[in-house]
Amino acid sequence: MKNTFLLICFACLNLTVSAQQKAAPQLNKNNVKEIIKALSLDEKVKLVVGMGMYIPGAPAGLLPPNDPEDDKIAPKVPGTSGRTHAIPRLGIPSITLSDGPAGIHFMDLTNAKPKYATAIPIGTLLASTWDTIMTQKAGEILGREAKDYGIDIVLTPAFNIQRNPLGGRNFEYYSEDPFLSGTIAAAVTNGIQKQGIGVSVKHFAANNTETNRMKLNTIVSERALREIYLKAFEIAVKKSNPWTLMTSYNLINGTYTSESKDLISKILRKEWGFKGLVMSDWFAGQNAAVSLGAGNDLQMPGRPDQFQTILNGAKNGSLAMANLDSSVERVLNLVVKTITFKNYNYSNTPDLTANAAISRMIASEGMVLLKNDHALPLAKSSTIALFGNASYDIIAGGTGSGDVVKKYTISLDEGLVNSGFKLQQNNKSVYEDYVKSENAKKPTPSFMDVFNPFYIKEMEVKNELIVESVANSDVAIITIGRISGESKDRKVENDFNLTDAEKQTLQSLSESFHAKNKKVIVVINAGGVIEMASWSHWADAILMAWQPGMEGGNAIADILSGKTNPSGKLTATFPVSYTDVPSSQSFPGKQLPLKEGEILDPVMPTYPAEITYDDDIYVGYRYFNTKKVKTAYEFGFGLSYTQFEYSVIKLSSTEFKDEITATITIKNSGKTAGKEIVQLYLCAPSEKLKKPSEELKGFAKTKLLQAGESQTISFQLTPAELASYDSSLSSWIAEAGKYSIRIGASSLDIKQTKEFHLAKNLMVK
Ligand code: BGC
Repeated sequence: MKNTFLLICFACLNLTVSAQQKAAPQLNKNNVKEIIKALSLDEKVKLVVGMGMYIPGAPAGLLPPNDPEDDKIAPKVPGTSGRTHAIPRLGIPSITLSDGPAGIHFMDLTNAKPKYATAIPIGTLLASTWDTIMTQKAGEILGREAKDYGIDIVLTPAFNIQRNPLGGRNFEYYSEDPFLSGTIAAAVTNGIQKQGIGVSVKHFAANNTETNRMKLNTIVSERALREIYLKAFEIAVKKSNPWTLMTSYNLINGTYTSESKDLISKILRKEWGFKGLVMSDWFAGQNAAVSLGAGNDLQMPGRPDQFQTILNGAKNGSLAMANLDSSVERVLNLVVKTITFKNYNYSNTPDLTANAAISRMIASEGMVLLKNDHALPLAKSSTIALFGNASYDIIAGGTGSGDVVKKYTISLDEGLVNSGFKLQQNNKSVYEDYVKSENAKKPTPSFMDVFNPFYIKEMEVKNELIVESVANSDVAIITIGRISGESKDRKVENDFNLTDAEKQTLQSLSESFHAKNKKVIVVINAGGVIEMASWSHWADAILMAWQPGMEGGNAIADILSGKTNPSGKLTATFPVSYTDVPSSQSFPGKQLPLKEGEILDPVMPTYPAEITYDDDIYVGYRYFNTKKVKTAYEFGFGLSYTQFEYSVIKLSSTEFKDEITATITIKNSGKTAGKEIVQLYLCAPSEKLKKPSEELKGFAKTKLLQAGESQTISFQLTPAELASYDSSLSSWIAEAGKYSIRIGASSLDIKQTKEFHLAKNLMVK
C-alpha cells in the first residue's frame, strides 16, 4: 500500500516535471525575446561566455580548466577553435567556430583521424588578384568545407592593415590599403555566407603588430584610425553584413578594443549599422563584465573566471541587465541562423579534389610578375636546374590559427614535371636529400609549435653543382622561401633581407648561367614583402608567388609555362630598404616593465608595451608616393605577358553633384590573351586638411581579353570617396575644389587623368 502510494507520488512528480519541460518554450527565429525571459541569470551568462578550449597536446594547466560540466559534453567537431554553450531545456544548441583565413583549421594534433581541408592561398595572394569574383570563390570553398564538416562560423576574413613589412601575420591580411582590404574582405564574406555559414571579420582594430600583441597599446590619431585602420572594416560591414566580428588583442589609446564602447557600440553599431554579434579574440581583454558592457557580446573561447565576473557584475548592478540581455539576444539571433540549429545533415566529406582545382586557379591569378627580361614564359619542354629549399618543400601558408591540415602539397619540382618540363636530376636529388635530412630534425609537433614555425636554413650550394647545372639545363630557377606566423613579428636580417647563402647562390647562378646566355628566374615563396633592390639585377625574371596553398607548385608552373598569363598586382609597397618604411622607427613598439604582481603568460609571453603610429595616415604608398621616396616596386605594380592600352577617361560631368562616373576602355594591344587590373586613384584638394598625393578609390579586373580585344569599365565615385576625416569637426568632409582622377596600371604608372570640380564643402554622413 505504502509502495503503491510512493509510486503514484513519483508518477505525479514526473508528470509535473515533464509538463514543465513541455511548457518551456523552444528557441525559434521568432521567439528570441520569449526565450530571454525564460532564461535564468546563470543561463544568460553561460550564453555570453564560450565553452573553453581544449587542445590535445597542450601541457596540463596551460589553458584554463573548463567548467567540469562542459567537459562532459563532447564537442560536435573536435579540434576546432571554440564553441558556445547549449541550453538544451530551451532548445538552444551549442554552435561551433573554426579558423581560418587560408582554409578550415582543425587543431587536432593527435592526428588520430586527421580532418583535411583545402589549403587555399594566403590572404595577401587572394588580395593580389584584385578580383572580387575570384576572392568570392575562395570564400565559397571555406563556406562549403565548413558546412561539410558541420562548422557554423569560420573565423575569417582577417584584414588588418599591413602597416609594416615585418608584421608576423601580414600573410593573413590583404593590403596596406583600406579600400582594397575592405572590398576583398566583403567578397570573401559574401562567398562564405552564401553557403549559410557565418564569418567573423577580424581583428577589430589596429592589430598590426604581433610582438607583445595581447598587451600592446596602440597610440593613433583619430584621423588615421578612421581613414586607415577602421575604413576596411567599415567597407566590409556595409558591403557584406558579416554575421560576427572579432575584436582584437591590443588596446587603442589606452583601452582594450574588446572593452571599448566607442569602438563597438558607437562606431561599429551606431554609425555603421552593424547588426551582428561581436566576440573577443581568444583570451583577450581584461575584464569580461566591462567588455560585455561595451557591447562585446561573447567572450571567447570562454573561461570560468569570466563567467564569474559577468555574473557578479549582473548581481551587483555594475553590469546593466539590459546590456546582458542585448548580448544574449545577439547570441540567440546568431544561433538560429546556423546549420547546427537547422539540424543540417553534414557529410564530413568535402569535395577536396574540386576545391583544390579552384584553389590552383586562384593561386595563379594572384601571383605577381615583378620582372621579366625576355625570360618567361619558359620554352616548352625546357630542362630546368631547380635551386632553393622551397622549390622542393614549398611553404603553402603561414603558421598559427591561419594554418591548415592538408592532405598534400605540390612543390615546384612536382608542378614543373606535371607541366611537362624536365628537371636537372642531380640537382633535384641533392636538394631532396638535404630537405629530407633537415626536416627529420623537426621536433615532434606539440602545442607550442603552433607558434614556432620550423624553418630549414637555405642549403649552401657547391660550385660543382652549379657547373653541372649550367651544362645540363636550359634555365635556372631558384626559390627563396620565408615563413612567418602568429605571435611573432619578422626580423630584418635573414628574413626581410636575404641571407648570405641565398645571395651567394643567386650571384653564382647569375654569373654562370649568364656566361652561357642562359636565364635565371627567381620565385619568391613568402607571405610578405622582402628586400629586392640589392639583388634583382642578378635575375632575368622575378615571380612573387606568395604562399600559394596546397596546389602552389602547379599554380607557379602554370605561370612559368604561360598556361596562365600573370595578372596579379602588389597590394603593398616593396621599399628599397627596410629603413625607408615610415613605421620602421616605431615598429614593433616599446616594451614596458611588468606591473607589480603581473606575470608572463606561459603560452604567449606578452609584456605591456606601447606603439605610436607616428606615420599617421601616411602608410605604404600614401607615404612613398607623397614624399616621392623611391621604391623597389610600387603599390599596384605587376607585369603581364601582354600589354594594355588605356583610352581617354570620359566623365559623366566635370562638376560633382551627388556622384560622378568615370569610364575608360582597356585594350589588349599585345599578342597574348590576358587580364588587366585597372586602378583608380583620386587626388583631392587640401585647403584645410593635408592629403596624400593620391588614394585608391576604385579598381577592376578585366575579363580575359584576347589579343586586340577591349573592355569598357566604369567607376562610380560618391561623396564618401571624396571625403577625409576632419577630427576637429568629428566628421567626414569633402573639401571644395579641384579633384583629379588618375587611372592607371599601378599607383605610379598613371595612364590617364581627368579633373572635376566640387563647388562647396560637403559634410558626408
Ligand atoms: C587569433 C585569432 C583566431 C583565434 C582562434 C587567436 O589567437 O588571434 O585570429 O581566430 O586565436 O584560433
